[in-house]
Amino acid sequence: DWNASEMLEEATEMVRAIGDKKVLCAFSGGVDSLVAAMLSHRVLGDNLYCFFVDHGLLRPQDLGHIKLLQEKLPLNIEIIDVKDLFLSKLKGLSDPEEKRKMIGNTFIEVFEKKVHEFEESHGINFDYLLQGTLYPDVIESISPHEEDGKSVTIKSHHNVGGLPERMKLKLLEPLRHLFKDEVRKLGEELSLEHNWVYRHPFPGPGLGIRILGEIFPESITKVQESDQILFEELHRSGLYESTWQALTVLLPIKTVGVKGDSRAYEEVICLRMVNSSDGMTATWSDMPRDFLSKVSSRITNEVKGVTRVVYDITSKPPGTIEWE
Ligand code: XMP
Repeated sequence: DWNASEMLEEATEMVRAIGDKKVLCAFSGGVDSLVAAMLSHRVLGDNLYCFFVDHGLLRPQDLGHIKLLQEKLPLNIEIIDVKDLFLSKLKGLSDPEEKRKMIGNTFIEVFEKKVHEFEESHGINFDYLLQGTLYPDVIESISPHEEDGKSVTIKSHHNVGGLPERMKLKLLEPLRHLFKDEVRKLGEELSLEHNWVYRHPFPGPGLGIRILGEIFPESITKVQESDQILFEELHRSGLYESTWQALTVLLPIKTVGVKGDSRAYEEVICLRMVNSSDGMTATWSDMPRDFLSKVSSRITNEVKGVTRVVYDITSKPPGTIEWE
């Protein structure tokens, strides 16, 4: 693809321009950081170090994906396990912005500490932070949405702020001129596996913003299990790529139901699937009835404590993709 090779060349040039420097990457395994890391690695080689923070708000598929990438790619990827820390920091918080800020700040804290230790023990200093920032992220962070003449932040995305200033690192963002579909083309140009390149987006704060209200270990399990069922059925039915992003949300309410022959008073899982090209606007995906029906009956049968499944038919705007 001529266009893709041009884009790849332009992005690679940004990496070449920094010279012989040590570069750190907050790696998520998603298509953006994967493509950013792989194209940078061709120039930087062992000067590139990737750290992955396991905040415990991941789905089993995410950890599995990271381990696979660790095994298959020439990148230095280190996993930092800080599940307990995040859980204790989030205890008692139920406001969406407070939760997002706590997740973001704890992420920075962990990352900073880890990097200092790493620099000490390896006798090196990092100069740059590599991020898979895309054009829509740049736009959303410089021109917050206007409301009544005042600018308002819709959600504080934790991956575009804070870290570089705190750590006195310069930013390396080779994808900052590109849209997601273009990044996917770059991924193909780099011969990355198809399912890595077409992996659905997953937000930095993870399941933390899909458990409405306060986060408890049991609620993480409920979302993990329902998400796993949703994705098994998406793959089984060949529908994975017919939707741009799919997710399950645990609602903070209980409803009455029947399980077996007794009354149940349990929780609700909401399914959300959307079509989009860049996440800035989206329409709800009109998924086949049989598929929705299968997912619903599996979730209510298999996930303990859930008696009801609903489907979100809101487009963005007005409904954002995530619920918090
Ligand atoms: P919203 O919910 O704002 O989401 O319509 C748009 C896209 O962005 C993802 N998202 C995030 N990604 N950090 C991320 O890396 C975040 O804090 C964050 N919040 C939302 C969301 O999953 C969707 O793809």
